[in-house]
Amino acid sequence: MTHPPTYWSYLRLEELLRLQNGNELNEDSVSRDELNFIIIHQVYELWFKLAIRELKFVRVKLSQDKIHEESMPLIVHSLNRIIVILRLAEQQFELMETMTPRDFMEFRSKLGTASGFQSYQMRIMEGIMGIKKEEYLKIGNMTPIDFFEVSTSETAPNIWGTISESFTEPSILDGLEQWLFRTPIQTSTPDQSSDGKVVDEFINDYLKNYDEYQKQSRSNLYQKNSDVDNRVLTQNQKEFDAIKSFLMDSNPNQKRIKTAILFIETYRELPLLTWPRTLIDKLVELEQHFVLWRTRHARMVERILGRRTGTGGSTGVDYLDETSKYRIFKKLWFVRSLLLPSSFKPELKNPEYYEFMSNFVS
Ligand code: HEM
Repeated sequence: MTHPPTYWSYLRLEELLRLQNGNELNEDSVSRDELNFIIIHQVYELWFKLAIRELKFVRVKLSQDKIHEESMPLIVHSLNRIIVILRLAEQQFELMETMTPRDFMEFRSKLGTASGFQSYQMRIMEGIMGIKKEEYLKIGNMTPIDFFEVSTSETAPNIWGTISESFTEPSILDGLEQWLFRTPIQTSTPDQSSDGKVVDEFINDYLKNYDEYQKQSRSNLYQKNSDVDNRVLTQNQKEFDAIKSFLMDSNPNQKRIKTAILFIETYRELPLLTWPRTLIDKLVELEQHFVLWRTRHARMVERILGRRTGTGGSTGVDYLDETSKYRIFKKLWFVRSLLLPSSFKPELKNPEYYEFMSNFVS
């Protein structure tokens, strides 16, 4: 006869609570600080597991040829859950900081070369989101992914299988870009023969208005020909050139994707663009929290470990600070620096197309 579930049987609590016994497989040899250290890491890995499940859901939904309107709230809901996980994960470092640097020194040697580098769930999350192997920083001549390939492809094929899958399957970034590519710009879609012309026209109108906006902002500066004015003028020119070369991408698909982001952000209050811009906002927020997690981790490491070499052989805090420069959704971030006040928006053709009554489904 099967027993009805209990709290402890459903959660496999006895098994779970036996897993904090360290290298010695004996909890008596684990100090209170080491127990803190082990539990915090295990809790992080559980949050990562949940985040991976959500990221995979988002990846599947975004990779569809047609994203139905009812999928959008589901994708956003899922991204939101990951954001909450990351926010909690940022805070959890406080608990680690209840351990003093000397408390850590008491058991650090037990770690040997074990390191957060080997948190393969972190790599899986990054891979699903869309980081490319070659974008990783190298330690010596190896990226963290090369390291996994060498150390796990034979000895731990399951671990290697799941990591490599996350780098070979189309990522969230791939799905996002395909969807952006299909976005109607000034009602035009990529299957229309005049689409290239419409996209170019929109970019040219936008650049013209951007130039006007810069001129007007400069004319508000009081001291003509002062050092400040000259510096602002030089900066403005640089900004303008950067924006132009970003939008006028020689790859027409990339050009369309970038223009679609700009279009959604520019007319974000239109009913049909409400969910698309919420999705874009959520992806930016998601990445922002990854960066905050990395930064918070680095500050905790600086406080507890100082600037020592990591157990994984990196330069420690210097390396960690470098990783906070990783960006996956680069184009979404870039477009933030080229938005204009409403009065400078190019004229929208057929605004009624973007009302709720439209049949368009991207
Ligand atoms: C006292 C606590 C901790 C210290 C001193 C510490 C230190 C370090 C150091 C020095 C590195 C650089 C790699 C190396 O050379 O080893 C690293 C990487 C890493 N740590 Fe920690 N860490 C701590 C806690 C945590 C926690 C609680 C997590 C949560 C999972 C974590 C996750 C990671 C990850 C994912 C990396 C890889 C970063 C990357 O390559 O992008 N660490 N850690």
